[in-house]
Amino acid sequence: MATTAVEPTRRDFLFIATGAAGALAGAAAIWPFISQMAPDAETIAAGAPVEFDLTPVAEGQIVKLFWRGKLIFVRHRTAAEIKTAQDTDLSGLRDPEPDSVRVKAGKAQYLVVYGNCTHLGCVPLGNDGAYKGWLCPCHGSVFDTSGRIRQGPAPTNLPLPPYEFVSDTKIRIG
Ligand code: FES
Repeated sequence: MATTAVEPTRRDFLFIATGAAGALAGAAAIWPFISQMAPDAETIAAGAPVEFDLTPVAEGQIVKLFWRGKLIFVRHRTAAEIKTAQDTDLSGLRDPEPDSVRVKAGKAQYLVVYGNCTHLGCVPLGNDGAYKGWLCPCHGSVFDTSGRIRQGPAPTNLPLPPYEFVSDTKIRIG
């Protein structure tokens, strides 16, 4: 499915492939981002942790990464998006989780979630839907700016991959 047609702007999304040598070969235009990830493609494909420098990710931007062949969204949230996510009444949520458990302490501006819809696995579109989080184009699931399911058939929130901050601006996934 061609999801890019309804994405807000191309600037909002960077595609970063780390899972396969073939993908790396075709990704010369985004080499500065890929080069931040120290392990070679073969090692990454085997499931090694990857480090990612968040510095180039502008506020309001969503970056797509691949780790162990799985899509991951890294979202640099705005102050308004953070406040909305934190102020959400959990009683009405299908999969109630406070925003505070979905981000790292002191790093609420960065949301890191797996990037496939928890219904049937389509790739949701960022900054879309009623809550301006993500909108899944397949069957209409709507996720908020914390990646929590708010509308549609998806049963659970977008899951969190294992990651940690290894410096003020760098995360290690895996
Ligand atoms: Fe996303 Fe069905 S796969 S709503």
